[in-house]
Amino acid sequence: MQLTLAIIKPDAMEKRLQGAILQRILAEGFEVVALRQTRLTREQAEGFYAVHREKPFFDGLCSFMSRGPVVVMALSREDAVRHWREVIGATNPADAAEGTIRKHHASSVTENAVHGSDSQENGRLECGYFFPGVELL
Ligand code: CMP
Repeated sequence: MQLTLAIIKPDAMEKRLQGAILQRILAEGFEVVALRQTRLTREQAEGFYAVHREKPFFDGLCSFMSRGPVVVMALSREDAVRHWREVIGATNPADAAEGTIRKHHASSVTENAVHGSDSQENGRLECGYFFPGVELL
């Protein structure tokens, strides 16, 4: 079993897509190990996306991620990281495959509805960022 972090981002929350996204998560066979609605402070968003600090989109990304509530979830499943990334689709919705969450619900490369960890190690680290100790469950 692997862990991956999923976030329902502010744009999807504003469109009231929490229920639809959670339903998809369950239909895809993930266990929701932990789930919390929160609003990220600017500092939390900057900490979470620290790896992108030097990127030109960093400022806009942190403003967007802290503009309203999000739902953060630690998901477990066999091959969780790869499978969740397949379900959400490419970062840029213009490149996202049919049937993916971003294809249907993302409006831009920044406002792309959901987050998914990009590696097994980051899955553990990101779940630990929001749910300290969850990797022990
Ligand atoms: P996410 O999967 O949460 O991880 C990093 C985020 O940075 C990504 O989704 C996008 O929201 C954002 N991002 C990545 N690349 C770009 C880009 N070229 N321009 C704007 N935002 C980006």
